[in-house]
Amino acid sequence: MFPQALLRKVIVQVLRLYPSVPLNSRAAVKTTVLPTGGGPNGTAPVYVKKGTAVGYGVYIMHRRKELYGSDAEAFRPERWDPNVKNEVDLKNIGWGYLPFNGGPRVCIGRKYPLACSCSSLKVPSRGICPPRSLVRNHQTRADV
Ligand code: HEM
Repeated sequence: MFPQALLRKVIVQVLRLYPSVPLNSRAAVKTTVLPTGGGPNGTAPVYVKKGTAVGYGVYIMHRRKELYGSDAEAFRPERWDPNVKNEVDLKNIGWGYLPFNGGPRVCIGRKYPLACSCSSLKVPSRGICPPRSLVRNHQTRADV
């Protein structure tokens, strides 16, 4: 594995286990229903009245075993390698990986810190650090 490719995965992994914004919230601008998250098993819809604040824990979500497998707590950068077989396929992790949030208010500087970290560590960087699939996902969400 090339060092810069490994470094990219290390940074992505650090932001998974130790997200800089571990808790976040939004207020509903209109009454809506979240498809899941309610009921005793968390599988029932949730009614959200206009004006209600909804908090979400990125730190906790990034450690969920349903999303990342039984080794979710492990620092294992190679889990982001598309050639490595994981218990849970991370190819479509989508909204399960949110260090920069998503949607219309996604972090506009999301590509910059990762690219800079690579160069400040004196590892030649070929472009943007996070796996391209993740960057693509976030760009898509910004357009929602
Ligand atoms: C590892 C570094 C960074 C992380 C983890 C990070 C994370 C985030 C997160 C989670 C948000 C969404 C906050 C929210 O909506 O509640 C955000 C927003 C934002 N970030 Fe970053 N960020 C990083 C670096 C940067 C850099 C380097 C810049 C600028 C060069 C930047 C500029 C912004 C701006 C302007 C917003 C507000 C976007 C908006 O509300 O429309 N961020 N960031």
